Amino acid sequence: MTDDMKLYWKLYSEWFPNERILSKFNNPIRDYSIKNSGKVIDIGCGQSTYLLDLLDSNYELFAVDTNEMQLQLLKDRVIKSGNKAERINYSSTEFPSDNFKGNYFTAIIISNLLHFFKKNDAYNFVSQLNQYSESGTLILVTVHSSSHLSNKKEITDKSYFKSFYSKSDLYEMFPSSDFEYIGYIEKEKLPNNYKIKFIKHWINEVYKEKYTPNQIRKIQQNYLKTCRINSIDFLVKKH
Ligand SMILES: C[S@@+](CC[C@H](N)C(=O)[O-])C[C@H]1O[C@@H](n2cnc3c(N)ncnc32)[C@H](O)[C@@H]1O
Repeated sequence: MTDDMKLYWKLYSEWFPNERILSKFNNPIRDYSIKNSGKVIDIGCGQSTYLLDLLDSNYELFAVDTNEMQLQLLKDRVIKSGNKAERINYSSTEFPSDNFKGNYFTAIIISNLLHFFKKNDAYNFVSQLNQYSESGTLILVTVHSSSHLSNKKEITDKSYFKSFYSKSDLYEMFPSSDFEYIGYIEKEKLPNNYKIKFIKHWINEVYKEKYTPNQIRKIQQNYLKTCRINSIDFLVKKH
C-alpha cells in the first residue's frame, strides 16, 4: 500500500468513527444468513463495517488483511466499541492461503478487493472459496463495475485497478448450478459533502509540504472530478 493510501485509511479512521459508519448500515448477513452462529470471515477487511456490526452477535469473527496498519485500526475500533480486541481473530496472511484449511464459514465477505486482481487471478481466488464454504454459506461481493471511470484507460500491470466486472462476470464466477442469487445491485455514487471535505483534507495532508495552496486546490478539483464510484454488490448463497 502506498504512503498516500496509508494516510487515507488513517484519516478515515478519525473522520469516520464507528458511530458514523454503523448508523445507517444494513448488514445482509443479519438478513439472509440461515443461522445466527458459526464463523464469518472478511477477506481484505480493512476496517470492516461488516465485522464491527457483528461484534454483538454470536458469530465467531475473522479479519484478514495483508496490511498490518489496517488490522491495527480495526482492533482500535473494536476496543472503542467496548469489546476486547480478541473478539475478532486477525490474520495478515495474503489470501488465498491454507491458513483456514478445515474451516467452514457461515458468511464470507470480499468487499472492494477483487478489482485489485487481474481477472484470471480473481476467478482463481473465488474458486478457492469452495473449500471454505458449505451448503447455506453466504458470499458477499462488492466490486467496481465496468462503468467505473478508471475503466476507460488501458489496464496494465501498473494500473491501480486491474479488473472491472459485469453481471455476466459475476454469474460466471458464481454459477447458478452452485449458488442461489439473492441480490445484485449496480450503484453509481458521487461523494457526499462530508466525504468531499474528507477527500480535500486528505489531499491537503499529502501535498502540504510540497505544493502551494493554489496548486493543492487544483489537485483537489481534478481528483474530485474522477471521484464517481460505479460498483456492484452481489450476494449469493451456496446450494
Ligand atoms: C480497498 S481496501 C477494502 C477494505 C474494505 N473491505 C472495504 O470494502 O472498505 C482493500 C484491502 O484489501 C487488502 N488486501 C489486498 N490484497 C489482499 C489479499 N490478497 N489478501 C488479504 N487482504 C488483501 C488491502 O491491504 C486493503 O486493506
